[in-house]
Amino acid sequence: MRRIAHHGVVVVGAGLAGLTAALAAAPRKVLLLTEAPLGAGCSSAWAQGGMAAALSEGDSADDHARDTIAAGAGLVDPAMARVLTSEGPDAVRALAALGAPFDRTPDGGFAQGLEAAHGRPRIARVGGDQAGAAIMAAVIDAVREAGHIEILGGYRLRGLLQDANGRVRGVVAQRHGELAKITAAATVLATGGLGGLYQVTTTPAELRGEGLGLAALAGAVIADPEFVQFHPTAIDIGRDPAPLATEALRGEGAVLVDAKGRRFMARYHPDAELAPRDVVARAIHAEREAGRGAFLDARQAIGANFPHEFPGVFAACMAGGIDPRVQPIPVAPACHYHMGGVATDADGRTSRAGLFAAGECAATGVHGANRLASNSLLEAAVFGARTGRAAAAEADPGTRVEPSQVVPVLPDTALAALRHAMSRDAGVVRDAQGLARLIGEIAALEALHGPAPALVAARLVAVCALQRTESRGAHFRSDAGATLSPARTFVRVSDLPALQFLPTLKFLKAAA
Ligand code: SIN
Repeated sequence: MRRIAHHGVVVVGAGLAGLTAALAAAPRKVLLLTEAPLGAGCSSAWAQGGMAAALSEGDSADDHARDTIAAGAGLVDPAMARVLTSEGPDAVRALAALGAPFDRTPDGGFAQGLEAAHGRPRIARVGGDQAGAAIMAAVIDAVREAGHIEILGGYRLRGLLQDANGRVRGVVAQRHGELAKITAAATVLATGGLGGLYQVTTTPAELRGEGLGLAALAGAVIADPEFVQFHPTAIDIGRDPAPLATEALRGEGAVLVDAKGRRFMARYHPDAELAPRDVVARAIHAEREAGRGAFLDARQAIGANFPHEFPGVFAACMAGGIDPRVQPIPVAPACHYHMGGVATDADGRTSRAGLFAAGECAATGVHGANRLASNSLLEAAVFGARTGRAAAAEADPGTRVEPSQVVPVLPDTALAALRHAMSRDAGVVRDAQGLARLIGEIAALEALHGPAPALVAARLVAVCALQRTESRGAHFRSDAGATLSPARTFVRVSDLPALQFLPTLKFLKAAA
């Protein structure tokens, strides 16, 4: 095994959180590990909406925090929301200073768009739906120019190194079949979410909760894993991953209709198309289940302006044979964002010494049970920077580590079975019977393939979803009514009940 002793910070993942952490760690040396080329394989570059921040006259960090807390259905940590929203405007300005070409008002301010559950227009956008790609391009340029960052491309995370005290001391990564043991003073996970555990996702499919699973196996506390957000309007043209029809379209007046052209959202929520994301996702799910179909009709609101106002959505629709200027867009909910993750403080510190987390794989507490639209790039920028600075301050404890544990990789056929089961049983609508069945299937896969991080991440979602016997935010239980008193989930994987599901496992074996 190749050995690399790096005395600074190793950052795993090159989405906005990872790149921001790497930049903020200066002047400390950073080793940036990424499997995909920069700009690929991360959700940040696919983000369409933009960055929510109180940048306009009359708006305030308090108002933004209030909307964030309301969307989170009782589980947002108010102090963390306040960090996010008060540091948000400067984070957007910093990205603009790097060259991110945010849309501007005639007087040079930031143009602000509206998205669901925001009390006012608050989204800083780029070219309609190009925010993620444009912001990432600017940040990637800065990273390439930064003298303190060394980029190691083509490396896949395969394990975390720990010392005898459990402190995380670096990673095991793999490139072209060769394993490398990389020790470092601090390790930052910025490995993204877990959309690839679901059959239909709006994120790169290679994001399978692997950082989350590895952190859990290393003994880190995981928070709120049951809260998975489903975007209501993935474009339903049979693609995996599914392209997104940004919520900004509804902000501009696009409406949801069934196959007969009838609007249905008013039956589900007084705010209709601008209801919270989880409400809209469930409404679309219900319409589709009832056989009525669901379509986003932007003919009136956008019409002929589609190609220049929403070029990304327009191109995706046209590639799928839909002309959104003259046809409603078929839509379906798809896995979009994981509110849960590795529990961190406001500087990205996890419960494991030496281990930090930022971005979607972290749970800072700002999203609660349901993330507010366009708060994710903002979280990546604000908490990515804080995490990079904190990780850079870690002293190097040397290179003595315990023998490394390389975790198994899930074979493709098992992954396909997992994705099917997760969508069926841990999707938009859940119940105890389905979740128990899912846990049994995950246990069967673990028995065959070992504790692959994707399976560990899936087990965290499923077990905590079963244990949360209420509906709250994005976690909807058809077999549970009113919400209980609000309480976040904090769990170690060693606390998860696994063996009690052996009866289900036996049933599955008997059926096979
Ligand atoms: C969207 O553009 O609808 C997605 C924005 C987000 O997920 O925050």
